[in-house]
Amino acid sequence: MSAPTAVAKYDVKDLALADEGKRRTEWAERSMPVLRQIRARFAREQPLKGQKLSACLHVTTETANLMATLRAAGAEIALCASNPLSTQDDVAAHLVRDHGVHVYAIKGEDHETYYGHIASALAFGPDMTQDDGADLVGSLHMIALNRLDDLAPPIRKWVEGLSQAERKALVGAVRGSTEETTTGVIRLKAMAKEGILQFPIIAVNDSNTKHMFDNRYGTGQSTLDGIVRATNLLLAGSTVVVAGYGWCGRGVASRARGAGASVIVTEVDPLPALEARMDGFQVMPMADAAPLGDLFVTLTGNLHVIRPEHFARMKDGAIVANSGHFNVELDLEGLTRIAGEHREVRHLVDEYVVKGKRIMVLGEGRLINLAAAEGHPASVMDMSFANQALAAELIAKEWKTLSKAVHRLPVAVDQEIARLKLQSMGIAIDTLTPEQVEYLASWDAGT
Ligand SMILES: NC(=O)c1ccc[n+]([C@@H]2O[C@H](COP(=O)([O-])OP(=O)(O)OC[C@H]3O[C@@H](n4cnc5c(N)ncnc54)[C@H](O)[C@@H]3O)[C@@H](O)[C@H]2O)c1
Repeated sequence: MSAPTAVAKYDVKDLALADEGKRRTEWAERSMPVLRQIRARFAREQPLKGQKLSACLHVTTETANLMATLRAAGAEIALCASNPLSTQDDVAAHLVRDHGVHVYAIKGEDHETYYGHIASALAFGPDMTQDDGADLVGSLHMIALNRLDDLAPPIRKWVEGLSQAERKALVGAVRGSTEETTTGVIRLKAMAKEGILQFPIIAVNDSNTKHMFDNRYGTGQSTLDGIVRATNLLLAGSTVVVAGYGWCGRGVASRARGAGASVIVTEVDPLPALEARMDGFQVMPMADAAPLGDLFVTLTGNLHVIRPEHFARMKDGAIVANSGHFNVELDLEGLTRIAGEHREVRHLVDEYVVKGKRIMVLGEGRLINLAAAEGHPASVMDMSFANQALAAELIAKEWKTLSKAVHRLPVAVDQEIARLKLQSMGIAIDTLTPEQVEYLASWDAGT
């Protein structure tokens, strides 16, 4: 469909930054061989020809490579940020200038601008969307359900200017969406359970070649990278408390141990808690860990994991960061209630004082790997974005037969991405012999 209202063609910090964005995007591209292969095929086959795609993703060098791949496939694209602090302004400029992507993203944008940019991506009138945290798809559903009061004010204002027919056409035009992260998939599955999903979703996060590598190794390394860049903290000899032992938490805990820290894990689920213990970490409730930690990192996808009663027990100088998707894991309102106003003592480091003890909160409690570092290394995003590109192709080809549910990519696609990644790393593996194939398919042979 055509855009319901006229929108500016882009809103980025400064187009003059494009050269640097191009240089850095090309650097990332070197580590993205799987996506490069997909791009070459897409350029030949044009699977997204004529499609309008609105994406709400972290605007990084890796995302720029995904955007270039989708452009090569023939798509027109609008891109907004999935976090106010994660945009790399030079990359945003490069995508506008060199790839003709309508980018609406500025690092550090305020609440009003952030949601205004999501409204611009919606106003693009997409046939397909890509999300990282379900902000875009969530807004489309609020529009579909006429729950305008639940929309962020800048989006509501824009929607109120549309007729009922235009709103219906906006949602009706969307053939499907992809979702990148755990938190988004949780929200979308909740919507599917309520029976309100308006179009099919491909949960990219559910592919093994996504969460086993991106969440674990990507978040593991880049979270510590962000914390170290923000603070210059020495991890060796420190006590690191990791809240949540899911894919991301496992990555952070193991990398922190590798850097010489003692690691404590907090959990609410007995199974990962047991796994953490058997992986060699201490496990205890946050209330007990609070006085022990030098550094706290939340990666749960949950709300208020560190609360005032925990902050009040922390040591002088404790550092607290979040790497879960939303900035809700640390109860910063609660912290402000007990600490009063805070002051910035270093870029991205806010000092709160609780009963004479200083507590440092990093990056306003937002994803620290994107706020203070560069997000995940390109090599791991190669697989995540191979999944995104192939999910977009699947929607373009099969949207008519896909049910309005949360799907994962076929296992064969997941396997193929792993095979290509291994191949790019120069690693060969064994192949099943015919005898082994038969043995594995039978119940009575070889016993
Ligand atoms: N920083 C990044 O770049 C990045 C990358 C991928 C995912 N994420 C986000 O990180 C979060 C975690 O993702 P994941 O894939 O590891 O999820 P996951 O579901 O694998 O793990 C989350 C874990 O947190 C635990 N948990 C829930 N509430 C808790 C609480 N109150 N205290 C302690 N533990 C609790 C759960 O039991 C679970 O084991 C999500 O919000 C996800 O979207 C961030």
